[in-house]
Amino acid sequence: MAQPLARLAILLSGRGSNMLALAEAVRTGPLKGLAEIAVVFSNDPAAPGLAAAAALGLPTASLSSRGRQRVAFDEEVVEILKNYHINYVLLAGYMRVLSPAFVRAFAGRILNIHPADTHQHQGLHAYEWAFDNHLAETKITVHLVDEGLDTGPILAQRVVNLRGAVTLAEVQRRGLAVEHALYAETLADLIRSTTLPN
Ligand code: GAR
Repeated sequence: MAQPLARLAILLSGRGSNMLALAEAVRTGPLKGLAEIAVVFSNDPAAPGLAAAAALGLPTASLSSRGRQRVAFDEEVVEILKNYHINYVLLAGYMRVLSPAFVRAFAGRILNIHPADTHQHQGLHAYEWAFDNHLAETKITVHLVDEGLDTGPILAQRVVNLRGAVTLAEVQRRGLAVEHALYAETLADLIRSTTLPN
């Protein structure tokens, strides 16, 4: 019997290009027949990515994190997400460190994409780091989220060739192209290798 579609929550704080790539992968790419987007959530109601999701007809939700204490905010987000009966939480430019209670609520089912090798660089500004250090290549990482900052088990990495990339914009362009492919492919592999609970 065919496996039910895995229900995804995509969390973002900004532009949302990874969200758009995941939505396209669900529609016509490696996630087709494997997953559906249950909700796109943002901690910033004005995030461009949220409007982009709504324009595609995807369900959206938001809760402003401005001025909020991390644990109390995360508890509310967990409650919101539970309404959507989701199987996986995908951080896609979600610029917050998750509290332990959030991580436990979806243990082993939260993924993040990081634009560097998480063994070499954690946190913000990874493309700036690669550019400023004149790296000949960098690595995109998709990993499971644990309670640390970019410390969870790595699911997949892919090299980005940066030779000849003389501007930060070019570094980002090459990196994002890899991000957009790798996130969907890695998630598709994970879904295929996992039996969803009933
Ligand atoms: C992406 O490059 C993503 O890898 C990065 O933020 C960008 C979001 O872009 N995430 C991190 O740096 C997490 N530490 P997007 O909104 O266009 O997907």
